[in-house]
Amino acid sequence: MALRGRTECWARTQRDAESSPLNARDAMPYGGKLTIETAAAGLDRENVVEHPEGTPGPCVMLSVSDAGFGMDEGTQLLIFEPFFTTKEVGKGTGLGLATVRSIVEQHDGTITVASEPGAGTMFKIFLPSVQAPAQDRAREDRQRALLLGSETILVVEDDHKVRTAVASSLEDLGYRVLSAGQPDEAVEKFAQHAEEISLLLIDVVMPGSHGPTLYDRLQRKHPSLKLKVLFMSGYALRTIVRLGVQGPFLRKPFTPETLAWTVREALDD
Ligand SMILES: Nc1ncnc2c1ncn2[C@@H]1O[C@H](COP(=O)(O)OP(=O)(O)OP(=O)(O)O)[C@@H](O)[C@H]1O
Ligand SMILES: [Mg+2]
Repeated sequence: MALRGRTECWARTQRDAESSPLNARDAMPYGGKLTIETAAAGLDRENVVEHPEGTPGPCVMLSVSDAGFGMDEGTQLLIFEPFFTTKEVGKGTGLGLATVRSIVEQHDGTITVASEPGAGTMFKIFLPSVQAPAQDRAREDRQRALLLGSETILVVEDDHKVRTAVASSLEDLGYRVLSAGQPDEAVEKFAQHAEEISLLLIDVVMPGSHGPTLYDRLQRKHPSLKLKVLFMSGYALRTIVRLGVQGPFLRKPFTPETLAWTVREALDD
């Protein structure tokens, strides 16, 4: 929600007003202006005496006002009571404002009303503002941290676009990436960096050689290393199993998130 904003709706007929807050609609049976405002505010000591349930300090204010028939003082004292309604049977249950107040107070906020018969009504909701990042954002950050890595990965993929996209996704997560466009180049790169490489990410179907064949070739050349591998392919499972793929497998097309999780799992396995 923007910290400060103002929205006005003109309801020419009752039908037009149906999307507006319902009490305001009911208070303006012949149409009228509905205003919704947001602003940064503060509950000061004076206000807190008036509204002891509110938390003093910086707040966000949301107000809803209408130009309807308003209420006398006696009515205002009762409006937040459950089942209090002035509406005819079948039109109101009297639970609307009781529910609103309960939600607001569960968030350590407060709700006020100002009204006069014939002069409209204004409800204000004050909610304590939060300086810390929203919880979901914090959780996202923690989840992302779990996906980061600094290991070296050799990506073998003949499609240039896929190879570059995979490499840059992995680099964004902190990995060091070596890439090869075809099996012979992979053998050469591997020989140069064998000790540093923690994972092989290999396409299954490539011109010249299949992924599993390349993996066997590398493992035979470096028998003392226990090579971790993750295969990727857009081919049907039946086909890639026939080509010798066992264990973890990345199905194309995949999202950067799936790539991140699958690679991290393969490394930690
Ligand atoms: N904007 C308003 N203008 C005039 N009177 C209002 C306004 N908002 C609420 N009231 C008065 O407060 C009473 C209680 O409102 P509340 O929303 O709790 O229940 P309701 O609207 O009657 O029923 P419900 O919302 O459950 O359908 C209403 O019946 C009405 O008398
Ligand atoms: Mg209501």
